[in-house]
Amino acid sequence: MATTFSGLQFALSRPCIPSTQRFADAGTMVLGGKSKVGAWNNLTSVSHVASVQPLHQSFTSSSIKSVKIVTKAMSESSADAPVSGLPINLKGKRAFIAGVADDHGYGWAIAKSLAAAGAEILVGTWVPALNIFESSLRRGKFDESRVLPDGSLMEITKVYPLDAVFDNPEDVPEDIKTNKRYAGSAKWTVQEVAESVKEDFGSIDILVHSLANGPEVTKPLLETSRKGYLAAISASSYSYVSLLKHFLPILNPGGASISLTYIASERIIPGYGGGMSSAKAALESDTRVLAFEAGRKRKVRVNTISAGPLRSRAAKAIGFIDMMIDYSTVNAPLEKELSADEVGNAAAFLASPLASAITGTVLYVDNGLNAMGVAVDSPIFKELDIPKEQH
Ligand SMILES: NC(=O)c1ccc[n+]([C@@H]2O[C@H](COP(=O)([O-])OP(=O)(O)OC[C@H]3O[C@@H](n4cnc5c(N)ncnc54)[C@H](O)[C@@H]3O)[C@@H](O)[C@H]2O)c1
Repeated sequence: MATTFSGLQFALSRPCIPSTQRFADAGTMVLGGKSKVGAWNNLTSVSHVASVQPLHQSFTSSSIKSVKIVTKAMSESSADAPVSGLPINLKGKRAFIAGVADDHGYGWAIAKSLAAAGAEILVGTWVPALNIFESSLRRGKFDESRVLPDGSLMEITKVYPLDAVFDNPEDVPEDIKTNKRYAGSAKWTVQEVAESVKEDFGSIDILVHSLANGPEVTKPLLETSRKGYLAAISASSYSYVSLLKHFLPILNPGGASISLTYIASERIIPGYGGGMSSAKAALESDTRVLAFEAGRKRKVRVNTISAGPLRSRAAKAIGFIDMMIDYSTVNAPLEKELSADEVGNAAAFLASPLASAITGTVLYVDNGLNAMGVAVDSPIFKELDIPKEQH
């Protein structure tokens, strides 16, 4: 890793992002890089180890010198600055993050925070998205959003093709095997990816599941087909069980596993359909059971982050993400748009020894929206004296 410093500092005094930045791009708040149009990569596992090198080299920090905008909170954490507060130090740790295919989503933000804290980054990218992710990485399309707090660029040591709805080659149906979007890749079932990572690196310390898919997400539950419902559960919930099952033997004791969930699991969110609310409920329940099983078996912690709304590629496909962001901004205790980096930083905390006694939890990173019992922007409350942030 070219990154030599853990740039992520867990300081209790870290200031909130002022509401004047409310509608700023998430990437600008902490990292200074505006998110750009996403894209994908294509590195097949073991047989392509040699091809990792050119890709890897093209990401070295020296290739970009210009973009270096960081907020005060992060710029304080420069390599030479005296360390204050509680540092998150993940140096020597290796993370596998499943569900990174562009620089807009939570997976990317989590990768950056883990990298800022010193971890080595491996990612799993959905097979059909791999080519464009790889070419965009190579062409430098993500360079601006790869900038870490110390000015270096996040390096991704290796990208693995992954389709988390298939556990092993026997599961893969003929039409997928022969599909041209899959034809150029190999060893992308969950079991094979875990085997490849073991072969390449021996072990990991952090496993992140940042993926979901519900083909009928725009349909109300009452109109969801059995097939659509089960597909949502398969891609968004069982994929996590499978991932942890196959990676657990190579997760070092003391390691951590994190997934991403959404409040629709426990509260009614009209529009989040197709069985996706059920899938998130399953994911949260599984988090508790898996925390027990993985804790007893390998001393591995299992937590999930219930994140607020983010304008990711997946969220935009649902169709009402801007409304959810606006709703949260006006109704949450903290009147600001959530930044993906805030979720990334929470994940880095959960992955770190600072969270060594935290397992089986749902951690809300949503500006507190989950705690609200009413929507305070309702006209019904117009006579109520509701405190507003002073501008
Ligand atoms: N964006 C939000 O508002 C929001 C809120 C709360 C929770 N989340 C959760 O965050 C996680 C990440 O989503 P995001 O919103 O950052 O979007 P995203 O588009 O960045 O991530 C979703 C990823 O899942 C991948 N994927 C889909 N099917 C896959 C499969 N079968 N195998 C492997 N990868 C597959 C996609 O390629 C994509 O990279 C998801 O679990 C999502 O439900 C998102």
